[in-house]
Formats: sequence, structure tokens, C-alpha cells
Amino acid sequence: MSFRSVFISVFLGTSLIVAAIILNAKRPLRDTAQPSLEFVRSTGKCAECHRKETSAVVHQFERSRHAAEGVTCLDCHQALDKQEPLEHRGFTISKHLTAKNCSQCHATEYNQFIKSRHAAPAWAAVLGHQDFTPEQIAFAETYHKGAVDRDANQLAIKEGPGAINKGCLGCHSIGKPNEDGSIGTCTACHARHWASVALAREPETCGQCHMGPDHSQIEIYYESKHGVIYNSYKKQMNLKAHPKKLTTQDMPVPTCATCHMSGLEGLKVTHDTTERLSYWLFAAVSDKRPTYQQGQDAMKEVCLKCHTAPHVEEFYREAEVVVEATNEKVNEANALMAALREEGLITPVPFDEPIEFLAFDLWHYYGRTAKHGAFMGGADFVQWHGNYELLVKITEMKQIAKELRTEHARSKE
Ligand code: HEC
Ligand code: HEC
Ligand code: HEC
Ligand code: HEC
Ligand code: HEC
Ligand code: HEC
Ligand code: HEC
Ligand code: HEC
Repeated sequence: MSFRSVFISVFLGTSLIVAAIILNAKRPLRDTAQPSLEFVRSTGKCAECHRKETSAVVHQFERSRHAAEGVTCLDCHQALDKQEPLEHRGFTISKHLTAKNCSQCHATEYNQFIKSRHAAPAWAAVLGHQDFTPEQIAFAETYHKGAVDRDANQLAIKEGPGAINKGCLGCHSIGKPNEDGSIGTCTACHARHWASVALAREPETCGQCHMGPDHSQIEIYYESKHGVIYNSYKKQMNLKAHPKKLTTQDMPVPTCATCHMSGLEGLKVTHDTTERLSYWLFAAVSDKRPTYQQGQDAMKEVCLKCHTAPHVEEFYREAEVVVEATNEKVNEANALMAALREEGLITPVPFDEPIEFLAFDLWHYYGRTAKHGAFMGGADFVQWHGNYELLVKITEMKQIAKELRTEHARSKE
């Protein structure tokens, strides 16, 4: 080989290596970085194979804090006591994962969660007490009297199993009683493999269920000053901040989670979404909760991280006026219905006459909306979707009542 050809081969060889290095450096980090020893250990054979089958699952998991902390696939997927085991490629995994799998490592969150209305009360709101053990009922009743020890919802029965399973339970399964004895679905807010707090802090995550005319929380939030500013400045916020270190620098405006759950500026994170509430706003007539004072103090503490006390006090005073006024209007409608029943002009059976739907819409849509709007900054919901509609519905109800009475009088002649 001549000197010249040796030189050319060395030159070409070197160029190829350099080009390969340059090209390689430009590829996304994920593809080139050798998995760390810890990561290989943490995912092992599951990830190796699932990188080919349902690879999205592995990519989601890789982005989670779980992967960074060395939690393995099998840590979550192993079959626990009272879970149906499934033989799977040389491993035994659980056929279904529930809050029980998460609670192995997150007992604090689970224990708060099961005290909330997101747990047993949410399921019982649709199907009543039938799916719960006496112990589960007794536990839930100590925190929410009457919320689990009740019958299945009349409207749900009337609408039938299709509506119940794909409709009601699509949202209310957040409090599903699981076969392994645990209650609830943690992934409703965190998703399965991301296990993300950033996702749980997004208003849309709560808005999956907290939407529509009967609980317009997401719509109210969007029109509130909080929602408008959040949506404009979201990209500048640090939604991934560690829950125990969340500051107003990370999130200078609140989302649903901030007010109802977060440990902002040293407050305690809570999975008991009931903790910071003072009224039963979802009820037809909203009474104070037994924990009225604690609930209100706890929520005000959150507001006070960003606002001054007079501002917050005035806000609550005005919202309470709306609760009182709405209660009065709903009471008036209820009295009208009671009188019609007493006079025998409507049947005692629920949801079989048009006026009953009017009476239901009156409190369930418009009464609730007015109250929720007042507490979460939705002026349009307090008024046009709230008080205005209350007036329309009560007027229609009075007209129907008048007609029923006239008809009845005529039939007696
Ligand atoms: C050699 C390949 C391979 C390995 C190893 C493997 N899986 Fe799978 N897994 C699959 C395939 C393929 C499917 C699709 C369904 C099927 O064919 O069983 C699947 C399905 C699943 C499902 C859905 C099961 C269902 O019934 O819906 C889960 C959960 C799962 N795997 C978790 C794991 C976990 C956790 C590990 C490690 C402990 C693991 N897999 C190891 C290939 C594998
Ligand atoms: C934080 C807990 C957790 C970890 C860690 C975890 N999973 Fe899962 N995985 C879940 C949950 C919850 C489900 C939903 C199970 C159910 O519905 O019963 C699920 C479902 C699945 C499914 C079925 C997906 C579908 O949509 O059909 C596969 C496959 C799977 N996991 C594989 C894996 C693999 C592979 C790993 C590791 C790379 C892993 N999981 C790590 C919690 C976890
Ligand atoms: C084997 C133990 C283990 C299991 C099982 C487990 N986790 Fe975790 N989880 C951890 C550890 C460790 C961390 C990191 C803690 C920290 O950073 O303070 C964590 C962190 C989290 C975080 C905070 C993530 C963040 O971005 O800050 C969430 C949310 C979470 N887990 C949800 C779940 C859910 C939901 C399940 C069940 C589907 C689950 N975990 C199952 C161990 C586990
Ligand atoms: C999968 C559906 C679903 C998601 C997601 C969801 N919720 Fe709920 N939430 C419900 C249901 C159903 C109820 C009603 C439970 C009851 O009173 O029976 C409820 C009730 C509540 C209550 C009232 C509790 C009480 O004591 O009256 C608050 C506050 C709340 N949710 C906040 C949130 C926040 C904040 C988020 C997001 C971080 C969220 N929810 C995500 C379904 C959901
Ligand atoms: C889009 C999600 C969604 C659907 C679908 C849904 N709900 Fe709800 N439901 C909620 C949320 C969110 C609340 C909490 C409202 C609040 O606290 O302001 C709630 C509250 C309730 C309440 C009052 C709380 C309680 O514990 O008494 C009852 C009763 C109820 N729902 C029954 C039903 C029935 C029955 C169906 C089906 C016919 C149904 N829901 C369909 C999300 C939903
Ligand atoms: C209603 C929505 C919702 C449900 C359901 C839910 N979480 Fe969370 N979770 C959140 C939010 C929001 C945060 C972050 C709070 C904050 O902003 O700091 C969080 C934070 C966490 C953290 C981090 C806490 C910390 O202090 O580091 C863990 C762990 C966790 N959740 C586990 C669970 C488990 C386990 C379940 C089921 C028992 C569950 N979550 C159910 C919304 C939810
Ligand atoms: C600025 C703080 C703040 C934000 C942001 C916020 N809320 Fe609220 N929320 C409140 C206050 C205050 C109340 C009334 C508390 C009471 O009863 O004293 C309330 C009431 C509720 C209730 C009514 C519970 C009942 O008794 O019927 C639900 C459900 C709820 N919020 C969910 C949400 C959801 C979902 C979001 C986001 C789309 C959200 N909230 C955003 C402060 C907030
Ligand atoms: C994380 C910080 C933060 C928290 C927590 C918070 N707010 Fe705000 N709030 C803001 C910001 C920022 C604005 C927009 C101020 C502006 O116009 O520049 C705002 C605006 C408002 C406004 C409209 C402005 C006005 O004066 O008309 C009201 C009302 C309000 N907040 C009430 C509350 C109440 C009540 C709570 C607690 C339930 C609360 N906020 C919690 C940051 C917060």
C-alpha cells in the first residue's frame, strides 16, 4: 500500500468517526444515553419487552419521578393480598391495579383521600350503599353523615344501566369500591405512568368531571381573573415544583388544586378535598357544614398567601349573601312542589312530570351555579346562568301550578 492510499484511508476513517460523533450528538438524548444502571434495574425485563409492545407506556414512565427514584414496574404491578394474580411472561402481576397498589408507598395520601367525598360518597351518590361493606359505610359516615348509607339515585335508576356505567360512573368511579377492599382511583388525577403532580395541578384535570351546568367549576374558573391570568402565564409557571416546596414563585396564581389541595408556602398538602370547605354547596338548600369554621379558616389561609385579609373577608361576606338568597329561592320552589303534592295535583313518584324537571333544574343547575360562581369568581354564572334562570324557572313553575289548579277545579265542576 502506498503512503498516499494509507493517508486517504486514515483520513476517510477519521472523518467517518468524527461525522458519526457529530451526528450522534445531534440525536435526541433519550436515544443515545445508555440507560443508567439504576434505570435498568428499575425497569428490567418489563421495560425491555414493553419497549417493543405498548412502547408509549415505557416512554411515559421514563418521564416520571418514579423512574428517577428507581420505582420499578413490578413495584406497582405486583399482585397484592386479595388481588387476582395473572401469570405474565414469567412474572406474577395483578389483573387490576387500584388505590391499594399506590397506598403501599403513599399511605398518607390514601388515608386523606378516603376521608374525602371523592371516595365512598362519590360512588354512593349514584349506586347507594349496596357495594360497600358495613365497615366502609361506618368509616365514611363518621366524616359525611348520610353520604354513603343511602339508596341508589332515583334519576340514575330511571335513566338505566347504559347511562349509569358510561355516564355517571365515568366521573363517580373516582370513589369506586375495589375488590381488594380499597376505595378509589388515584390515576383519575395523576394518570397511570406519568404519576404527575404537574398534571394534577392543571385545571383541565379536575375539569374532566367538574364541568357542565350542574357543576360548572371549570367554566367559572376560566372566566375568573385567576383562570384568565393562569391561561396567559401558564408557560412561565413551574407546575412540576415538589409539593412540599411549592411557593407563590412557582405558581403566582391559583388553579383548582392550589385552593383545594396544595401545600402553598408551607401549608399542608391534602388529599381530603373536603377539608377547606364550609358549605354543602351541591345541596338544594345549602347549610353550613359541621366543620364550617375549620373549613373556612383553612381556605382563607390559602387566599392570604396572595391577598390581604380585608379583601378576603369581603369576598366571603358577599358570597355568603348569595348562598342565603339562593336558599330562599329554592325554598320557595320546594314549598310550591310540596303544596302541589299535598293537593294531589302531582304524584309522589319523582321524575314523572314536567314540573319536577323544572324544579330539579332550578336548584341543580341554576341554584348551584349561582353559589359556585359566587365562591370562585364567576360573575356571569352568579347572574345570567344563575339568578336570571332562577327567576325564569320559578315563573314557569308558578304558571304550571296555576294551570294544574284550574284544571283540577274544572274537573270537579
Ligand atoms: C417478553 C415480553 C413481555 C414481558 C417480559 C412483559 N410483558 Fe407485559 N405484555 C406483553 C405483551 C405482548 C402484552 C399484550 C398482552 C399479552 O399478549 O399478554 C402485555 C400486556 C401487559 C399488561 C396488560 C395486561 C392485561 O391483561 O391487560 C400489563 C399490565 C403488563 N403487560 C405489564 C408487565 C409488567 C409489569 C411486566 C414485568 C413484570 C411485563 N409486563 C413483562 C409483553 C411482555
Ligand atoms: C405508579 C405505578 C405504575 C408503575 C410504576 C407502572 N405502572 Fe403500568 N399501570 C399502572 C396502572 C394503575 C395501570 C392501569 C391498570 C388497570 O387499569 O388495572 C397500568 C397499566 C399498564 C399496562 C396496560 C396499559 C393499557 O392501557 O392497556 C401496561 C402494558 C403497563 N401498565 C406496563 C407497565 C410497564 C412496562 C411499566 C414499567 C416500565 C409500568 N407499567 C410501570 C401503574 C403503574
Ligand atoms: C414502591 C413504592 C411506590 C409505589 C407503589 C407508588 N409510588 Fe408514587 N412515589 C414513590 C416515590 C419514592 C416517589 C418520590 C417521592 C418524592 O420525591 O418525595 C413517588 C412520587 C409520587 C408522586 C409525586 C410525583 C411528582 O412529580 O412529584 C405521585 C403523584 C405519585 N407518586 C403517585 C403514585 C400513584 C398514583 C401510584 C399508584 C398508581 C404510586 N405513586 C405508586 C413511590 C411509589
Ligand atoms: C374523575 C372525576 C373527578 C375528578 C378528576 C375530580 N373530581 Fe372532584 N369530585 C368528583 C365527584 C364525583 C365529586 C362529588 C362527590 C360527592 O359529593 O358525592 C367531587 C367533589 C369534589 C369536591 C367537593 C368535596 C365535598 O366535600 O363536597 C371538591 C372540592 C373537588 N371535588 C375538587 C376537585 C379538584 C380540585 C380536582 C382536581 C385536582 C378534582 N376534584 C378532580 C369527581 C372528580
Ligand atoms: C361529568 C362528570 C359527572 C357525571 C357524568 C355525573 N356526575 Fe354527579 N357529580 C359530579 C361532580 C363533579 C359532582 C360534585 C359537585 C359539587 O360538589 O359541586 C357531582 C355531584 C353529584 C351529586 C351530589 C353529591 C352527593 O354526594 O350527593 C349526586 C347525587 C350526583 N352527582 C349523582 C350523579 C348521578 C346519579 C349521575 C348520573 C345520572 C351523575 N351524578 C353524573 C360529576 C359527574
Ligand atoms: C382529585 C385529584 C387527585 C386524586 C384523586 C389523587 N391525587 Fe395525588 N395529588 C393531587 C394534586 C393536585 C397533588 C399536588 C398538590 C400540590 O399542588 O402540591 C397531588 C400530590 C400527590 C403526591 C405528592 C405529595 C407530596 O406531598 O409530595 C402523591 C404521592 C400523591 N398525590 C399520591 C396520590 C395517591 C396515592 C392517590 C390515591 C389514593 C392520589 N394521589 C389521588 C391530586 C389528586
Ligand atoms: C381561588 C381559589 C379557588 C379556585 C382557584 C377554585 N376553587 Fe373551588 N372553591 C373555592 C371556594 C372558596 C369554595 C367554597 C368553599 C366553602 O364552602 O366555603 C369552592 C367550592 C368548590 C366546590 C364546591 C363543593 C360543594 O360544596 O359543592 C367544588 C366542587 C370546587 N370548588 C371545585 C373546584 C374546581 C374543580 C376548580 C377548578 C376548575 C376550583 N374549585 C377552583 C375556591 C377555589
Ligand atoms: C397563588 C396566589 C393566589 C391565591 C392563592 C388566590 N389568589 Fe386571588 N388573585 C390572585 C391574582 C394574581 C389575581 C389577579 C390580581 C390582578 O388583577 O392583578 C387575583 C384576583 C382575585 C380576585 C379578583 C380581583 C379583584 O380584587 O377583584 C378575587 C376576588 C380573588 N382573587 C379572590 C381570591 C380568594 C377568595 C382566594 C382564596 C379562596 C384567592 N383569591 C386565592 C392570586 C391568588
